[in-house]
Amino acid sequence: MSGRTRGWLIGLAAIAAIQVLRMPVRNGREQGGFEAPPAVRSAILTACFQCHSEQPRWPWYTQLAPVSWFIHAQVGEARRRLNFSTWKDYLYDPGTAARKFGAINQMVRSGAMPPWYFRMLSARGRLTPAQRTAIETWAIEGRAQALKAEPN
Ligand code: HEC
Repeated sequence: MSGRTRGWLIGLAAIAAIQVLRMPVRNGREQGGFEAPPAVRSAILTACFQCHSEQPRWPWYTQLAPVSWFIHAQVGEARRRLNFSTWKDYLYDPGTAARKFGAINQMVRSGAMPPWYFRMLSARGRLTPAQRTAIETWAIEGRAQALKAEPN
């Protein structure tokens, strides 16, 4: 066996071995309550729910280690910061709602979200300029309304 063949076999064996620790993304409860005008809603469902909700659907190859480790970590981090499946909870507190709306506007306007690797991997991540504007306008209005509702 040549050194190169052995190298490949060891590599394949290592990849097979780490599959016992795939760490697939697990989904919690969808609490509903996320509402937005249809254009905004469908853009967010397509481009953001893969990470910022309890209902992501990732293709099978992303469920193989080590890619699955990366996705697992990203989705965990994304949900901690913004989870559309618990959107209702944010609305109970106007200060929190205002912060979430503000962050969404900032992230979409700056082009930081959806993340570059997701835009590269998936057509879902590529928002049209019209979709970006729709999300930004909705978030700006949402923030203004939340700030008005906040007791001083
Ligand atoms: C592929 C996964 C992924 C997708 C898709 C994604 N995000 Fe994120 N998002 C993350 C991760 C990871 C973080 C936390 C780390 C960071 O800020 O880069 C984050 C952070 C954020 C934050 C910051 C929250 C805070 O508290 O600062 C906002 C807002 C956000 N995303 C909005 C969006 C919106 C809106 C979309 C859809 C247009 C989207 N994201 C799509 C992974 C994703």
